[in-house]
Amino acid sequence: MLALLALLAAALLALLGALDSVYFTGFAETNKSFVIARLAKRPNGICEMWLFLRVDGVGEFEHPQHPNMMVNDESEEIWSGGGLTIEYLELQARWKISFDGFLSWENSTEVFSFSDDSHPSTFVRAFAQEPWTIEFFQRVKKQREQHFRHEQWGQSVGEIEIENHEKTKLSLKGVRSHSYGVRNWSEIYRYVMILARFEDGTAAHLTVINMPATTTNLTVGYVFFPDGKKAGIEWSNASLAEMADDGVIKDEYRVSFTAGGKHFDVSARLDKQACPVVYNGLTGRGVFHECIADFQLNGLTQGWGLAEFYYR
Ligand SMILES: *[C@@H]1O[C@H](CO)[C@@H](O)[C@H](O)[C@H]1NC(C)=O
Ligand SMILES: *[C@@H]1O[C@H](CO)[C@@H](O)[C@H](O)[C@H]1NC(C)=O
Ligand SMILES: *[C@@H]1O[C@H](CO)[C@@H](O)[C@H](O)[C@H]1NC(C)=O
Ligand SMILES: *[C@@H]1O[C@H](CO)[C@@H](O)[C@H](O)[C@H]1NC(C)=O
Ligand SMILES: *[C@@H]1O[C@H](CO)[C@@H](O)[C@H](O)[C@H]1NC(C)=O
Repeated sequence: MLALLALLAAALLALLGALDSVYFTGFAETNKSFVIARLAKRPNGICEMWLFLRVDGVGEFEHPQHPNMMVNDESEEIWSGGGLTIEYLELQARWKISFDGFLSWENSTEVFSFSDDSHPSTFVRAFAQEPWTIEFFQRVKKQREQHFRHEQWGQSVGEIEIENHEKTKLSLKGVRSHSYGVRNWSEIYRYVMILARFEDGTAAHLTVINMPATTTNLTVGYVFFPDGKKAGIEWSNASLAEMADDGVIKDEYRVSFTAGGKHFDVSARLDKQACPVVYNGLTGRGVFHECIADFQLNGLTQGWGLAEFYYR
C-alpha cells in the first residue's frame, strides 16, 4: 500500500505542474506560541518549504532561507527538504515532523476532503457568476480531476530547546493538510484562507479564491463541530474584493457563513507582529503572508488560528 502510494506520487510528480504537499499548523491556546511547516514536492527534484515557529517569551523563528521558499527535494519516500522532514507513522493519524529535533502529531478529527465533502451550493454559486461556455466547464472538470485536498485537525506535541533558554514543552492544536495532483500557481490570482479552532472544540476553514480561468469568486470550507461531525460551508458573505482588494492586510476581518444548518459569525484580530512572508519561487511573483490571529465566534467564543493571504 505505502509502496504503491509512493509510486503513484512519483508518477504524478512526473507531470508538469504536479504537486504533493503536506502542511501543518499548530497554535497554543494560552500563549502566543505557534508552528507552521509545509513541504510541497514539485517536479525536477525541488520542494516548496515553509517553516515558522514562535515560542512565547523566547521569540520568533523562521527558516534561515526565508523569504525564499525553494529547496531541493531530499527524499523520494517522505517529505524532506531544507533540513525539514515530515513523515507519517500511521496514515491520516500520526506524523513525525523534524527540524533538528522533532514534533509528533496526532489527529483529533476525521478527514475533510475538499472534493468529496464540500457543499455543492458553494460551487453552484461560484459557477453562476461565470460566463458559461463548453471550455469553461471543461476547465472546471479538469481542475476537479487534477487537484485534491484533505484536511484534518489534531495536536502537535514536542520539546523545543533554544540556545540560552530552558527546554519548553509545546502542545499545539492545528490543522494538517495534504494536497496533491496538479496545482499551477499561475492560475491562482489571489486567495485568503482562514483557519481557526475555538475553545468549544469547533474548528473551521474558509477560503475565498480567485482563479481567473475557472472561478473568480469561489468560497469553500468546512466546520468540524465539537462532537466531531463535519459539514461543508454552504454560504458565506466573504468577499475577496472586501478582504484583499488592495493588497493591504488589515488588523481585523469579519465574515459570516453557514454550515450544517448553523450560522457562524467569525472575527479575526491579526497579530501584525507575527505575519511572516514567503515568496513564491515557482512563479517569481507571488507572496504568501502567514498571519497569526485571535478569533471570536459569534461574539463570545475565543479562538486561535491563522489568516493566510496570497497576492500576485
Ligand atoms: C500554468 O498556467 C499558465 C496560465 O494559465 C499557463 O500559461 C501555463 O502554461 C501553465 N503551466 C503549466 C505547467 O500547465
Ligand atoms: C483520526 O483519524 C482516523 C482516520 O481518519 C479516524 O478514523 C478517527 O476517527 C480520527 N480520530 C478522531 C478523534 O476523530
Ligand atoms: C504555551 O501554550 C502551550 C499550549 O497551549 C504549551 O504547550 C506551552 O508550553 C506554552 N508555553 C510556551 C512557552 O510555549
Ligand atoms: C462573490 O460571491 C458572493 C456570493 O457567493 C457575492 O455575495 C459577492 O458579491 C461576489 N463578489 C463579487 C466581487 O462578485
Ligand atoms: C459579513 O458579515 C460580517 C458580520 O455580520 C460583517 O461584519 C462583514 O462586513 C460582512 N462582509 C461583507 C463583505 O458584507
